[in-house]
Amino acid sequence: MRVLVTGATGYLGRAVAQHVQAAGHDVAGMARNASGLQALDAAGLRPVPGDLSDPDSLRAAVEDADAVIETGNADNDRATALLLDLVTGTDKRYLRTSGVAVYTELSGGEPSSTVHVEGEDFTPIPELSHRYDQDLRVMAAAKGGAHTVVLRPGMVYGQGGSEQLPVLLRAALRDGVSRYAGRGLNRYPNVHLDDVARAYRLALESAPPGSEYNLAAAECTMREIADGVARVLGLGPAVPVPLEEMSQAIGLLYALGMSSNVRVDAVKARTELGWQPKGPSLLDDLVNGSYRRVWGDREVSLMTEGAHA
Ligand SMILES: NC(=O)c1ccc[n+]([C@@H]2O[C@H](COP(=O)([O-])OP(=O)(O)OC[C@H]3O[C@@H](n4cnc5c(N)ncnc54)[C@H](OP(=O)(O)O)[C@@H]3O)[C@@H](O)[C@H]2O)c1
Repeated sequence: MRVLVTGATGYLGRAVAQHVQAAGHDVAGMARNASGLQALDAAGLRPVPGDLSDPDSLRAAVEDADAVIETGNADNDRATALLLDLVTGTDKRYLRTSGVAVYTELSGGEPSSTVHVEGEDFTPIPELSHRYDQDLRVMAAAKGGAHTVVLRPGMVYGQGGSEQLPVLLRAALRDGVSRYAGRGLNRYPNVHLDDVARAYRLALESAPPGSEYNLAAAECTMREIADGVARVLGLGPAVPVPLEEMSQAIGLLYALGMSSNVRVDAVKARTELGWQPKGPSLLDDLVNGSYRRVWGDREVSLMTEGAHA
């Protein structure tokens, strides 16, 4: 298949694009500027110029593709609408990256027994209803003849990168303390980057039109993650703090997200797509693996930089 990956210069998109290419597909990565195009070339991906916010460039990028994997921005409604328009009535496939965050249940660090399954009737919190509405719109387009799929990765980790773990690591490095909100008993699902890439490839090849998949290998409490952050950086035990302090440390949205429960059933991807996550587990990768390699000695280097400043 000729596959266009948007967001291909990003954490998730690059891994997906490289894996799909290695599986034998003809992959182009979309980037919106010269440095992005160069980065794609250096990563061994065929660069295609395009901007999710520029309809003409997006249209041109999609033209030659049999499938579009969108990993750039789950909240760019105009791009989503245009992509739906471009694939409807064609054989092109469209995979949308959403996220398990749509299931966010605010809890201030308390646990929850609610587990979400694809296809259930549920009402997202107002802050995420917009993203969820887009998911529904993308799936509903299948009724009009579009081959659409929605993928919801959990907290992605691997290669010492991603979004949430580095937010916690940076704050702990800066302040010399690793924090969790409340009792830290809230749970969040997670999935290794390589497993995400495999799931996307399987979905590209075999997910039926209008389908949706939660992608999670396991779940952790935020306290377990905060303890792991403390261990990687050689700090004392992680400390419980009120939500307000967590918010001051990492920003309100991250603090709310990381003190919430997101619990999902992710069996469907295993049974329908034959997906088998292989790990390593988040805590192992954090404490002993890629995060230790990338972040483990940073405290010293940051202090050194500070001393020179
Ligand atoms: N990381 C996770 O744990 C996770 C989990 C679930 C869902 N997600 C979702 O997955 C998506 C990607 O996440 P990520 O962690 O890979 O983020 P990321 O590293 O920031 O990558 C985002 C990519 O999208 C590109 N992009 C953004 N706006 C664009 C535009 N207008 N036109 C063209 N390209 C554009 C960026 O290009 P530039 O390089 O030019 O900025 C970058 O390549 C996001 O929607 C995120 O919410 C992420």
